[in-house]
Amino acid sequence: MKEQLEKIRSDAAAALAAAADAEAVEAARVAFLGKKGQLTAVLRGMGALSPEQRPVVGQLANEIRAFVEGEIEKKKAELAEKARAKKLASGVIDVTMPGRRNKAGRLHPLNKVLEEVTSIFTGMGFTVAEGPEVELDYYNFEALNTPADHPARDSQDTFYITDKILLRTQTSSVQIRAMEKSKPPIRMIAPGRVFRSDTADATHSPVFHQIEGLVVDKGITMANLKGTLETFVKALYGPDARIRLRPHHFPFTEPSAEVDASCFVCGGKGCGVCKGEGWIEILGAGMVHPNVLRAGGIDPEEYSGFAFGLGLERLVMIKYGVDDLRLFYENDLRFLKQF
Ligand code: DAH
Repeated sequence: MKEQLEKIRSDAAAALAAAADAEAVEAARVAFLGKKGQLTAVLRGMGALSPEQRPVVGQLANEIRAFVEGEIEKKKAELAEKARAKKLASGVIDVTMPGRRNKAGRLHPLNKVLEEVTSIFTGMGFTVAEGPEVELDYYNFEALNTPADHPARDSQDTFYITDKILLRTQTSSVQIRAMEKSKPPIRMIAPGRVFRSDTADATHSPVFHQIEGLVVDKGITMANLKGTLETFVKALYGPDARIRLRPHHFPFTEPSAEVDASCFVCGGKGCGVCKGEGWIEILGAGMVHPNVLRAGGIDPEEYSGFAFGLGLERLVMIKYGVDDLRLFYENDLRFLKQF
């Protein structure tokens, strides 16, 4: 019986040494220590032994059980360590590999300049307002002193939805909405999309952007208009930039002016960009017409105001020397990456 036990010891040791994975270890455990295993079989035969032999063989059997259990644990630990090492080796990071550069996104040039313009005006105490793109004829024309038979309507080819509803042709529509909503003093800009039934070419697009400005308070004069716009142009184009006002006509302002900025390229001497003029037209402006103040619920005897409207695309084209408006809407990355 002792020999049988010693054979179990050496067989188990050999089986475990050869075990290459967890299944083989488990198979060995079952074969030697399991209910139907070899050691159990030997112990069952102990009844036949003499009382003197029994404790001796019993002790040896316990010793062998402990030995086999110990070998199993050792093997398990060894296999686990191997698996861990293998996993680590497969996950190694090659620090000499060249990195992949993250491509940074950037703002669309229209948004970039819009943010600049907005921050210049909010810096002067203006708030930012918004109005609907689908607008009532009333806000876009009627309340802006432009009744149905007014010739100025011809210059803004309008997308009508019904005869009372249209796609706004100008952000001036937000002027009336702003006056309806709040009492003077009002100092606001209203950036947004506007629509005109124009065929797209280098200087026209059926969709473009304007930034409207409106100031209403007691004692506002043309001097306030000029000072505000001069401050704006210097902030946008640099301290040497100047403006000039040319008489013009808009139905919603009286007097009205077109405002030019000194050419940002030649500084006013005349060059290719300003076509030899030295000046570039950037916006329309004027003193808010009494009829418009009245339509906004404001008494023109008590208050006065100025307004202006500038084309965002034009501002960006001048600032960056872009010569075709369509580039802003084509989403060609080669163009957009330059800003
Ligand atoms: N709404 C005018 C346009 O689209 C621009 C404009 C001119 C706005 C004079 C104004 C203004 O507020 O006072 O051509």
